[in-house]
Parts: sequence; C-alpha cells; structure tokens
Amino acid sequence: MENFTASAPGKVILFGEHFVVYGEPAIAVALDLRVEATAYRCEKSIVEGLRTPLVERAIEEALRFVNRSGEAVCVRLRSNLPISVGLGSSAATAVAVIASITGLFGVKPSRDRLFRMALEVEKTVHVNPSGIDPAISVNGGAILYRRGRGIEPIKLGGDFTLVIGNTGVPRSTGAMVEKVRLFAENHPRVMDRLRAAASSIASEALEALEKGDVEKLGRLMDVNHGLLEAIGVSSLELERLVYAARRAGALGAKLTGAGGGGCMVALVAGKRVEAVVEAIRKAGGEPMVAPISRVGVLYGNG
Ligand code: MEV
Repeated sequence: MENFTASAPGKVILFGEHFVVYGEPAIAVALDLRVEATAYRCEKSIVEGLRTPLVERAIEEALRFVNRSGEAVCVRLRSNLPISVGLGSSAATAVAVIASITGLFGVKPSRDRLFRMALEVEKTVHVNPSGIDPAISVNGGAILYRRGRGIEPIKLGGDFTLVIGNTGVPRSTGAMVEKVRLFAENHPRVMDRLRAAASSIASEALEALEKGDVEKLGRLMDVNHGLLEAIGVSSLELERLVYAARRAGALGAKLTGAGGGGCMVALVAGKRVEAVVEAIRKAGGEPMVAPISRVGVLYGNG
C-alpha cells in the first residue's frame, strides 16, 4: 500500500477539567471536527501541514510499535479542528498520526494501546496529562474518564445543543496545568475541598446526562465554572463569553479545556441557540454550534 489515511476527533470537556489531573472523574464529548493524517513511504521523513515536536514523537512511537524504528516515513496533515484553543487538537493529532503510520504498515493497535501511545506523545507538550484528551479522541461519543481507570461510555439523553465560544486568546495547556499545581501546593486543604466538589459535580452530571435532565446539567456546568475560576484558570475574556451566553438564555456555561483563554461551552435548549450564538459574537467571541461525533479514530478514508 502506498499511503494510508486515518483521522481522529477533537473534544469538548463538559465537566472536570484540571481536577481530572488529580484523579477526579471528568466528562468529555467528541466533536465532529477532525485531524486527518496521511502516511506514506519516502526517502527522508517530512511532515506536511502542521509541524510540531509532537508529530515527530508520534512518528517515533508508531514506528517503534511496528518494529521500524529509524526508518523514514512522511506524514501529511489536514485539520478542520481549531488548534490550541482547548478542543483537543494535540491529542487528535497524535492519535491520527499514529493510526496512519501503523495502518501504512498493516497493523491496527487495540484502542487501549493507541490511547497509551498517544498519551506518551502528549507528554511532549505538557508534562502531566491526565489522558482524557487521547481517551475521547480514540473512542469518540461521550465518556466518563478517570485517570488510571480508563473510560466509561455515556449514553447522551435529553435535547440540547452545545455552543462553543472561542475567545481567540492563545494559551498553553502545560502552563495552565502548572498554574493549578502551584495553587494545589500552596493551598492543599482548599484544593482537597474543591476536588471533592468537582467529583460530586461529575457524578451528578453523569446521572443528569443519562436522564436527560438538561436544567440540572446547566446548573452543574455553572458550578463547575465557579470551581475553575477559583483555581485561577478563567480569564476576563472567558467570563465575558460565559456571562453573555447565560444572559442570552443558556441553561449553563463554563470554560472548557485548560482555560486561561481558548474556549467556553454553553448548554442550550433548541429555541435559544440563535440568541446564544449572537450573544457570544457580540461579546467578542467566535461562536460555533458543536457538532458531536459518535466516531473516534477512523482508519482508512471512511
Ligand atoms: C485539557 O484538555 C484538560 C486538562 O484537564 C489537562 C489534562 O487533563 O491533561 C486541563
């Protein structure tokens, strides 16, 4: 085979970011916005499209898995997922690159193995990843994730739309995770209480998601946002979009991902979607109705 294409989705975290790094449960949903990688044999390794140290690590990891360490392989990348805004582009890139190269050599790692390889790669860009981003990117759909315990797929009930608002402010996941580490080091007892609250929120949210209790879900998102603000990962730009969405009738709104910039997400009942989209735009954000994806990693072109 001359070339092999694989793709992997981005994600939005609905509950538990940051606290998941400390072992608390978190809930994420895959987005139908994907990074696509095409691997092909060549004389000298080249990455086309996106050049990051992460891609080189992903290539190494995949070649080691297929017992071809040190051989040349080229990768072409395409993405309709916004990069570095908290929507899981690093993990999706790692998963897609590894899957395309293993596919090129006719091997398909188990989902768990692919997850573990992508997690190793993610450590290149931030030192202490919980694994939630590669877990949702590999599996798709909606998951409850707990560090070291893996995933539980969630059946989404209820009628709601997720509206994402991008502040356009760049941020680094590694730096935000480090900021929270310092907070936890300086305020260990406060952090313990906040962790316990985050854990209760995620379990109640799981029940509400399965029952389709959207009002309760929205309230829990607001509370979760409060905890994230408390540990120092919100920003004025994020607050503006969160408040604008709530004022326009969202059932709940919170920052999503690492924070410090990047994106927020609002839970919206059907009839308010347009109003929330407009409110986010007026508040200076770039709104997007989130396309939810059941599909995780995809081997081949379809
Ligand atoms: C980043 O998408 C989510 C964080 O919780 C970091 C991680 O879990 O690795 C901020």
